[in-house]
Amino acid sequence: MVTQLTSIFPSENNIPQPYQIPTPIEQREYLINGEMKTWTGPLNPVLSPVFVKEGEHYVQKLIGSTPLLTSKESLEALDTAVKAYDLGHGLWPTMSVTERIEHVERFLQNMRATRKEVVKLLMWEIGKSQKDSEREFDRTCDYIVDTIKAYKELDRSSAKLVEEQGFMAQIRRVPLGVSLCMGPYNYPLNETFTTLIPALIMGNTVIFKPAKYGVLLIRPLLESFRQNFPPGVINIIYGRGRETVGSLMESGKVDVFAFIGTNKGANDLKRLHPKPHRLKAILGLDAKNPAIVLPDADLDNAVNECITGSLSFNGQRCTALKILFIHRSIVNEFIKRFNERVSKLKPGMPWDDDVTLTPLPEPGKVEYLTELVDDAKKYGASVINENGGEHQHTFFFPAVVYPVNEKMRLYSEEQFGPVIPIVPFDDDEEPIQYVLNSNFGQQVSIFGTDSKRVARMMDAFVNQVGRINLNTQSQRGPDTFPFNGRKDSAEGTLSIADALRVFSIRTLVATKSTDSNKQIMSSIIRNHESAFLSTDYIF
Ligand code: G3H
Repeated sequence: MVTQLTSIFPSENNIPQPYQIPTPIEQREYLINGEMKTWTGPLNPVLSPVFVKEGEHYVQKLIGSTPLLTSKESLEALDTAVKAYDLGHGLWPTMSVTERIEHVERFLQNMRATRKEVVKLLMWEIGKSQKDSEREFDRTCDYIVDTIKAYKELDRSSAKLVEEQGFMAQIRRVPLGVSLCMGPYNYPLNETFTTLIPALIMGNTVIFKPAKYGVLLIRPLLESFRQNFPPGVINIIYGRGRETVGSLMESGKVDVFAFIGTNKGANDLKRLHPKPHRLKAILGLDAKNPAIVLPDADLDNAVNECITGSLSFNGQRCTALKILFIHRSIVNEFIKRFNERVSKLKPGMPWDDDVTLTPLPEPGKVEYLTELVDDAKKYGASVINENGGEHQHTFFFPAVVYPVNEKMRLYSEEQFGPVIPIVPFDDDEEPIQYVLNSNFGQQVSIFGTDSKRVARMMDAFVNQVGRINLNTQSQRGPDTFPFNGRKDSAEGTLSIADALRVFSIRTLVATKSTDSNKQIMSSIIRNHESAFLSTDYIF
């Protein structure tokens, strides 16, 4: 297998022509105040997780470089965002909903034209398969379409006046201010845009810093951002987090902090803000979602869902199933079927047909996963699948580790990669206690058919996690469903409709329902004297 793994990395001329990157892409552009600036300072090399064979050696492919901006440029971006917001009086926050939607629609039209380029970079930068990269791109476009639809609905429902206890009022959602949006490397386009687009459409101004990996793929979109939004409304910066983002937070001028990453990263940045009560945070953080397979579960279905749940994109999803609790009476059969399925997963390069397992983008990840497996072995577990844990350069073949117990790091640490810890259990109370005592609270998956037993488990988890999946893997979608978490897993709820809410606040104009007040209100509305107090709505 080790030899087989070595040969999964291609030589340059074995890479199909449409996917080749013959010369590294040197990005020097960044976007501030509607101006495409050129960076003349140092650059950050972008190394693909893909190694390429050169003679007898394998070399990590350098695919480009991005600007290493400093706090000076990021504060410049902040200044322009603050000016564009202009204490809520800027062009963008005061623009009509219809006009703001038109800007986003034009952006989407331009974005669609970049699909091929963005997908190719997704494949090279983070090793995501072509199919999954295309899915990520299309899902993001759909998300924007649905966000526009949801915003129109929100606007329609706010167009009417309410009467209550002798008061009449109009209640609308208005922006919060300057938003800082940062996404994760595993969904560098989709997850970032699930905060960036709602932030923009609600009238906030934005500073966007791309993820740690998956940076170059934003480049094809820079011009569309520049063309379709007024100066200062969207600013895109690059560089080391601590230096660029740290100074933004320290300034106290960021009103909304949208961050998808680790809870440690979020804590470190949040505590830099001098006025924490003025900072609204929307966070998607760590998770250790368990699957619990009960004795009467449909085993084929459970195995199927646990395979995709734990190994889609090599387990690098925040929603991935990261620990499997299998009832002892069926654990051997489960493992047998699970391992059969793992052995059939195709390792390869992101552009290979039907590939499932691909190289990992994080430096040191293979060593980290090996460390977790070795730690489990120390406490009595083994790797029980053929070739499990074998690795070459950035590629790590999935390791199924059994039996896992509470002494092992794999029991509580989020591996975020292709290692699948399996814990046998006798009493349902064991996985229940695991969830209750976990630091994380994103999702759980229960597999079973005995309705009474399943219901008891569901009820045990409703106050622990954000979503309980029955006979299905954990996941974020459909994007209209609420996506959140408890404890160290999240702050705030995202869904298409919820994202519009988290990036806005309700403001109302209220008055006592007297004849003279009614007259003033109706004259304002009839003569279109206010942008806020208005019963017009978009079809
Ligand atoms: O990484 C976290 C993502 O939100 C997961 O989304 O469940 O659709 O893969 P997904």
